[in-house]
Amino acid sequence: MHVLSVSSLKGGVGKTTVALGLASASLSRGLRTLVVDLDPQSDATTALGATRELKLSCAEVLKLPKHANVVRAIVSSDWESPSAGTMDLLPGSPKVVEFDSPTPTKRDLWRLEEALSRVETDYDLVIVDTPPSLNGLTQLAWTASDRVLIVAEPSIFSVLAADRAMRAISAISKQTAGRLKPLGVLINRYIPASKEHQFRLAELEQLFGADLLSVAIEEHSAVQQAQGAARPIHSWPGEVAGNTAKSFELVLDQMFQSHSADTSKRSSKRSTKALKGLKIRRGAIQTVLDLVDEP
Ligand SMILES: Nc1ncnc2c1ncn2[C@@H]1O[C@H](COP(=O)(O)OP(=O)(O)OP(=O)(O)O)[C@@H](O)[C@H]1O
Ligand SMILES: [Mg+2]
Repeated sequence: MHVLSVSSLKGGVGKTTVALGLASASLSRGLRTLVVDLDPQSDATTALGATRELKLSCAEVLKLPKHANVVRAIVSSDWESPSAGTMDLLPGSPKVVEFDSPTPTKRDLWRLEEALSRVETDYDLVIVDTPPSLNGLTQLAWTASDRVLIVAEPSIFSVLAADRAMRAISAISKQTAGRLKPLGVLINRYIPASKEHQFRLAELEQLFGADLLSVAIEEHSAVQQAQGAARPIHSWPGEVAGNTAKSFELVLDQMFQSHSADTSKRSSKRSTKALKGLKIRRGAIQTVLDLVDEP
């Protein structure tokens, strides 16, 4: 099981859109996929069309990450699978704010890791949609992840936020036995004809070098239409939707290439061991938070 967090320290840049696009690509590849909606706004939960009454959410699972709770909370999405793949959801809830403290405890940081260890063999890929900050929820998402994908728009504020996020990942990675690595920065809402976007893209290439993913997701109304209809981009008609779907597949390929060297498994035993060996100190996390507060 691979765990990928989709994050940015800036709101509205397309985290949920990218998480859903990657989930759609994963489903079309026939993978067993779980989306974890850690954002209190719960947009991913809405877009995945989990319309039935939900018994439990991330909030209860984080509170008590035991097997019975995790299994009861996970629901299957309404997305139709064209292949053998499955699309499940660990639903979001406004109640998760309880875990969004700027100074989470060590115990809290490992709650998602512990929950996911209960379903280690049930999924090929877990995609975590995170809120737009580096508070507790994002920190515990990253602590449970193998890779973090940073989403950025081609705008000056987004570029600055992506830079801070990349530095924050390396700070948290050091504290978590190094499993966490950045997948890189993905540009979303790119308009190839825009001179401003071309300029920002060149700036991002300079700033991030190899950490800038070679594929960018373009701005298209088909993306919003598919979301509005609670359907995967891979099932949306038209050439534009097809091209966007292919871009998400390329990002997914880059993620698996980046993972191929890592063969480590997640398990309850492993997390207990990791928990014991954990070097996170409040001071270190504060260093990360200070980074975020920089102008
Ligand atoms: N590539 C795209 N083309 C067209 N619209 C897009 C694209 N990416 C995102 N959007 C739209 O931009 C809006 C914000 O996107 P989204 O909700 O994914 O951002 P977010 O980073 O998850 O926001 P938040 O920080 O509030 O969680 C949505 O209406 C979404 O449909
Ligand atoms: Mg979102």
